[in-house]
Amino acid sequence: MIGLAVLLSYLIGSISFSYVIVRLARGIDIRQYGSGNAGATNTLRVVGKGPAALVFLLDGVKGMLAVGLGYWLDGSPAAMILCGLAAIVGHNWPIFLGFRGGKGIATTIGVMAVLTFQAALIAGIFAIASIILTRYVSLGSLIFVVGLPIMIGWIGYPSPYFSVSLVIALLAVIRHSRNIRALLAGTERRLESKDR
Ligand code: G3P
Repeated sequence: MIGLAVLLSYLIGSISFSYVIVRLARGIDIRQYGSGNAGATNTLRVVGKGPAALVFLLDGVKGMLAVGLGYWLDGSPAAMILCGLAAIVGHNWPIFLGFRGGKGIATTIGVMAVLTFQAALIAGIFAIASIILTRYVSLGSLIFVVGLPIMIGWIGYPSPYFSVSLVIALLAVIRHSRNIRALLAGTERRLESKDR
């Protein structure tokens, strides 16, 4: 059952809510606008606050759902971890969109809120503080994913949770490579709202 659960999780992760919602709201492909990323931050730039909040929520819920699926179909922690990872991979490289998706942060929040709630909460507080202070969502995202393994190790979760958090951090850093270059060059976009 673990294989089926992982496959279904990948498919759930592949549902790109930013793509769907921006397509419904404006009839355009979000990947052609703003940063070109299929995610909540870019939805904020392209469409505005309400749709962005909805995308963030739904992308997070699909991560939670994938972990739940691992629990229901298999029940082992390994299945829950692999299903969560599969949803993040699906979000980043969605089969329905030619494997060009998002950066996986909202989905990672959903996955890790279920798997390692305390670690996600503490890493999330640091991430939110950094976004408020700098208005760089990408920096906050990176602080979140780097903070996860640190907090997981510090709190003392079993090693599979630490290992998956390292993989998730690596995936996120790879997906944020353009943001990292822009942050270093001082050209990264700051958080802005279309409604403002
Ligand atoms: O979660 C995505 C965020 O970290 C960066 O998005 O659109 O600014 O590249 P974006």
